[in-house]
Parts: sequence; structure tokens; C-alpha cells
Amino acid sequence: MENARSTIHGVWSKRLTFILAATGSAVGLGNIWKFPYITGENGGGAFVLVYLVCIAAVGISVMMAEVLLGRRGRSSPVTAMQTLTKESNVHGVWTGIGWMGAIAGLLILSYYSVIAGWALHFIVQSASGAFEGADSAAVGQVFDSLLADPQTLLGWHTLFMVMTMTVVARGVTQGLGRAVEILMPCLFVLLIIMVGYAVKLGNFSEGLAFLFKVDFSKLSAGSVLTAVGHAFFTLSLGMGAIMAYGAYMPDHAPVGKTVVTVAFLDTLVALVAGMAIFPLVFANGIEPSAGPGLMFVSLPLAFGQMPGGLFFGTLFFVLVSVAAWSSSISLIEPFVAWVVEKKLLSRVGASVVLGIVTWTIGLLTVLSFNEMSDHKLFGLTAFDLLDFITANLMLPLGGLFIAIFVGWIMKREIVRAELDAEPEGLFNLWYTVLRYIAPVAVLVVFAYPLIEKFSG
Ligand code: TRP
Repeated sequence: MENARSTIHGVWSKRLTFILAATGSAVGLGNIWKFPYITGENGGGAFVLVYLVCIAAVGISVMMAEVLLGRRGRSSPVTAMQTLTKESNVHGVWTGIGWMGAIAGLLILSYYSVIAGWALHFIVQSASGAFEGADSAAVGQVFDSLLADPQTLLGWHTLFMVMTMTVVARGVTQGLGRAVEILMPCLFVLLIIMVGYAVKLGNFSEGLAFLFKVDFSKLSAGSVLTAVGHAFFTLSLGMGAIMAYGAYMPDHAPVGKTVVTVAFLDTLVALVAGMAIFPLVFANGIEPSAGPGLMFVSLPLAFGQMPGGLFFGTLFFVLVSVAAWSSSISLIEPFVAWVVEKKLLSRVGASVVLGIVTWTIGLLTVLSFNEMSDHKLFGLTAFDLLDFITANLMLPLGGLFIAIFVGWIMKREIVRAELDAEPEGLFNLWYTVLRYIAPVAVLVVFAYPLIEKFSG
């Protein structure tokens, strides 16, 4: 059952490089921007609990499955799925896992880049002293006037897309590891400093209670779906990003340990970001359900008041932008790798073309905050709709199919051979979770709103 395939895109030098790249992909706007704002919108503690359970019970097992698929296929997710469906003698529709993923990645990047643009804008605002001594109204004003200004949003979105596609054009196994290795720990330390500040000046007890006091009466079927979707989003699962990175992972490296490390670091960053943001939210009379601006309004307030805030604030938004950068690369790498493998275009050509396509779709998100804010479908703006379709539908669906494919369709011996570094007991535990718990959990969450609707 030894796997003799090799990749044309290069292999990571060590297992550590995979951890760095996967953590770079996982830790991003999802942790620092999205997690706090959707936790605020969905009532806090109970939502956080469901999210944590999903990471542990579904996220880790699906992530191991993705690494396994990528490493066995040793190519882009689409080609890997083609190879593996043949190997398993099943119908080619399973290749759809790769296709849906490539499209989901492109759609996510289209809005992810616009939000990352907000972080770039805030670097300049911070450095120019716009937040010095500002109150909530003044900070809110900076944020609102950014959203109201499509040209500025477009400018930053364009810059961020260029940054992303430049790295992808050069090949992701080159050089990115270094930046992540140094800058991610810096981001983490800075978040801890902000928690310290929140203890001192924020309403820390109320912030903690909001995050960790579980009250199930605040949980709707929609919140549960959002929590599941976010577990996939924050770990970069369900669309092949981890598969693409797994393709560059050396043989025989232990997958379980590696994946648990990545999931742990990712969760830690999200919880620490929440602990920095919510005490400030409550101390400054901001609504926890304020929406996508939550981080962009609460943290600048703190930077405006703390000693050295100009420096820390600027540094913070630089680091958030870098975190977003290392994530965005993994959103488009699967698609680019496929175009390169098919010899349709060179790596540079593929990056330019797919970059332009993604940039263009991003215009919808840019306009959804201003000119098109009244254009709604099912009560959602273009941005909210894109986010819902990708994070809440496509990613969990992708995860479901991945779990079924690895758990039920691939031969057990092949799966075992790929995970040859895992002890027997752990392998069996993982295999059971992947076959039964992960698919059932996703199916129940999908079916729940329907059940609720038809029984009510
Ligand atoms: N996980 C990243 C974040 O939390 C976003 C991301 C990168 C992603 N690659 C992905 C989300 C692939 C889903 C799928 O910011």
C-alpha cells in the first residue's frame, strides 16, 4: 500500500514547516475578526461551547482526513480526488469535492480580501494617530466612513489581492514559512498584552461571563449552523486548503499530533482575541451584536487610551494583515495548483487570471457596504450571502463528503497505511469518529432548521 506518487510543487522540508503553513492558513481574520463578531451576534457562551465541541469532534477528524487525502494524492485537490476515486474504483462525481472546494476558496477569498483591506486601512489610521484619545463615537466614525467609501475599500482590496497573488505566483513552498514563524508569535504576544489591558481597564468579568457562561436559551438552529460553519472556516477545512498543503507534507510524518497542534493553536488565538475584545465592548457600551465592525471599533479604543498605543495599534493591524495574508494564500492555492498541473497556464499566468476573477467578485462585497446595502436576497446583503453560502453551506458539505469518502469509500488498508505513524488505539478512535460522529453531526445540523420548520 506504499504510495509512490510525488508532487511537482515541492515538499516541505520538515513536519514543522507543515505546522507553520497550516497554522498560517488557519489563524487569520476568522479568529480575530469573525469569531468575536459572530459570538456577539449569537449570544455568547452557548455558541462558543458548540463551536469548541465542533472543533474537537468534527474539525480535528476531518482535518486529518484532508491531510491524508492530499498526501496520498500528492497534487491539487481536484487531481488528488481524480487519482483517489480511480484508486477506490468509484464514480468520478467524488471529484466534485475538489471542484466545490476550489470554487468555495475563490468565493471566500473575494470577501476575505475586502475585510483584510479594512485591516490595511487601519494600519494607516493607527499610525497617523486617528485613534489617539478617541471615544467610541470617534472610532465608530472612522469605521463607518470607511464602509461608506467604495473607492477606498476598492483600493485596499486591490492591494491585498496583489499581495496574495504575488506569493501564490512564486509558489507557496517558498519563503512563506519564515514570516509565519516570526510574526505569528508576535501577534499572539500582542493579543496577550491586550488581554492584560482589558483586565485593567475593561469590564473583564462581564466579558468572560459573556464568552463562557452557557445559556442554551440563546441558541437557535441558525446559531448552531453558524458555529459548525465557523469550526470549518477557522480551521480552513472543507475546501481542500489543508489537502493542498498536505500534498507537500513528507511521508510517514505523524498526522494526528500535527493536526491537534494546529487546531489547538487556532482555538487559543480565537479565545484570547475574544478575551481581549469583549471586556472592552462591555466597558465602552458597544453592543456585542454590533456585527462585522466589532473588532475594528473596540480595539482602537483601547489603543487610543493606552501608553504606547500608537505603536501597539499600528503593529497590531500590521500583524492582523500578515495573518490574513498567510490565510488568503491557502484559499486560492488549490485552484492555482490545479491550473498549473493541467498545464493550462504557468503559475504566474494562473495567479494573474484567478486573481482578477476573485478581485472582480470582490466588488460585490465592496458595494454591499454602501451603494448596494439595500439590495438584499433572503434578507442578506451580497457580503452576508457570500459568507453564508460558503462558510455555512459549502464548507460543512465539503467536510461531510470528505468524511464519507475517507471513512466509507477508501479502503481501510490504504487509510491505515497513510496514517502509519499513529498508534492502533488512536487510529481506531479517529476512524470511528470520522465514519459516524462527523457525518451525523453535520447532517443533523443541516436537517435541523428543516425539522424545526416543518414540525412548527
Ligand atoms: N482559516 C482562515 C481564518 O480563520 C481562513 C481560511 C484560510 C479558510 N483558508 C481557508 C477558510 C480555507 C476556509 C477554507 O481566517
